[in-house]
Amino acid sequence: MFDLNAYLESARSQINSALQETLNANANAGRIIAAMKYSLMAGGKRLRPVMCLAAAEAVGGRAEDVIKAACALEMIHTYSLIHDDLPAMDNDDLRRGRPTSHVAFGEGTAILTGDALLTMAFETLATIEDIKSDNAVLWLSVVHLFATAAGVQGMIQGQMMDIASEGTRLTLEELGAMHALKTGAIIEASVLSGSILGGGNHKQIERLRTYARYIGLAFQVTDDILNVEGNPEVMGKAVGTDKTRQKSTYPSIMGLGQSKEFAKGLINKALQSLEPFDSRSEPLRAIARYIIERKR
Ligand code: IPE
Ligand code: IPE
Ligand code: MG
Ligand code: MG
Repeated sequence: MFDLNAYLESARSQINSALQETLNANANAGRIIAAMKYSLMAGGKRLRPVMCLAAAEAVGGRAEDVIKAACALEMIHTYSLIHDDLPAMDNDDLRRGRPTSHVAFGEGTAILTGDALLTMAFETLATIEDIKSDNAVLWLSVVHLFATAAGVQGMIQGQMMDIASEGTRLTLEELGAMHALKTGAIIEASVLSGSILGGGNHKQIERLRTYARYIGLAFQVTDDILNVEGNPEVMGKAVGTDKTRQKSTYPSIMGLGQSKEFAKGLINKALQSLEPFDSRSEPLRAIARYIIERKR
């Protein structure tokens, strides 16, 4: 039986060491690096970088060859959380079990911390050695992939829709489109980067894209469900906030029970898209199941 907890522990420890190394290399940067470390090393689940490593393995690649892409994903994700929590956005005080960046360091530093993490992601992702390597084209394609997923055709567009639609009622179709952008795009980029850099062929990459789209939506539906019925102590962030801010969510439109069934259906479809893959895709299968069973 595949042991997801052991897998997650080992993958997280590889990711955390690599992230720490990058922070150490910039230790001279004082307050800004302290604020970056505060949010980056606060104990996030590391799901996006883990998905990148797991996707590389699923196509026969090695986790250690894609670790820089994995770190870049976690930097982009952490930046997005810092900005998402700002008073002008969701105005949250707690994240990853700690006061949010703007509460701990002030708004100006929190904005800069997000900016610094986003730019550091690209600095980390493609180094001079990658640009000179035989795989330069693959790395360049991942730079483009991450920029697109994080930008106006991806997460930023989704976040824009999210704040613009507060207080309005989205249709299910509109909500699905918003979730696919605000959360799905980076999850898709996580799985795709691993499969591209891991040496996957076109067919494998397209299958994994389908997998990622299903788990990406299931991930945000579960985030919405946990915002209704989760335990804030376990989650390390506040609950009930979507209702207070009048956000359209799956539970607000279809109810909790149906939202859970919907998420389950998405995970089954994600698992179906993995059918042609061998046992090296076990981590991706287990991650799919975990996404809807998680409590944080
Ligand atoms: C939370 O992401 C924000 C969303 C995109 C829904 P995670 O639940 O992966 O947060 P961390 O990284 O574990 O803190
Ligand atoms: C966060 O979405 C999505 C991004 C940061 C891109 P939410 O605002 O729904 O997530 P939480 O609940 O604050 O983690
Ligand atoms: Mg938000
Ligand atoms: Mg939020």
